[in-house]
Amino acid sequence: MPTIEENQQTWDGSYAWAQQGDEWSLFWGSAEAQWVGSILPRIHGLISTGTILEIAPGFGRWTDYLRKYCEQLVVVDLSEKCIKACQQRFAAEKNISYHVNDGKSLAMIPDNSIDFVFSFDSLVHAEADVMETYLTQLATKLKPNGVGFIHHSNLGAYQSAFAAIAQIPTEQRAGIVDRLLLEPTHWRAASMTAKLFETYCEQAHLQCIGQELVNWGNQGLLIDSFSMFTPKNSTWARDNQVIENLAFMTEAASISKLSGLYSTKR
Ligand SMILES: C[S@@+](CC[C@H](N)C(=O)[O-])C[C@H]1O[C@@H](n2cnc3c(N)ncnc32)[C@H](O)[C@@H]1O
Repeated sequence: MPTIEENQQTWDGSYAWAQQGDEWSLFWGSAEAQWVGSILPRIHGLISTGTILEIAPGFGRWTDYLRKYCEQLVVVDLSEKCIKACQQRFAAEKNISYHVNDGKSLAMIPDNSIDFVFSFDSLVHAEADVMETYLTQLATKLKPNGVGFIHHSNLGAYQSAFAAIAQIPTEQRAGIVDRLLLEPTHWRAASMTAKLFETYCEQAHLQCIGQELVNWGNQGLLIDSFSMFTPKNSTWARDNQVIENLAFMTEAASISKLSGLYSTKR
């Protein structure tokens, strides 16, 4: 159960950031391949735009792409180390502003100022209370036709199953049930689910418009969700559509196969 303090200790302290976060893109072949093959196809209809808010940029793995799709980019992270690294990495860019926060507050963002809010591979480590607080504030930070795409944990959807299985004596568990318990969960927040995300949107007068549940880094569990949302009366508003994608890692593997061939890097 990653708390805000544990996140801060990890990302500000113990984590080495050896490749600025690109190390997490290896499964896709590279950060560039992951952006072009996996992320951009999902958000292409939402950018380019005026002002983008990126929550939790780390060392700027996605910032480097987002900055090209907007007039202004605002980045907020609870880690001072990360924000300093971004300031250094993007020193030549004039359209980026930087903020260190307490892991919850967006008070530094003017109301009604954001066209697109994005967070990827970060808030999967944020528990439900953090997600609720961010969504409540985003309702006032987004412009009337603003829209968001946030990658978060859905691990909570399995908590009662995990708890029930843990009660069964080991010798009585079938191999398949054991495998479920051993599935990697990548430090996901155990209290967060896609369903809760939708509820928090409702409470904040936001409309959740699409959720893709994905089996990030494991076989059979949809431990993550990419959730899109918008103000209730925005031009993007529509009924929520939920898709379960158990082929997400297969997609990643096929992106990786082509990544070297089509890379812009030598
Ligand atoms: C795994 S790193 C990913 C960084 C970047 N998104 C990437 O994909 O390279 C997680 C980042 O989330 C930030 N973070 C975690 N919890 C946060 C929170 N509640 N609010 C703001 N930033 C947070 C950390 O400081 C760290 O920069």
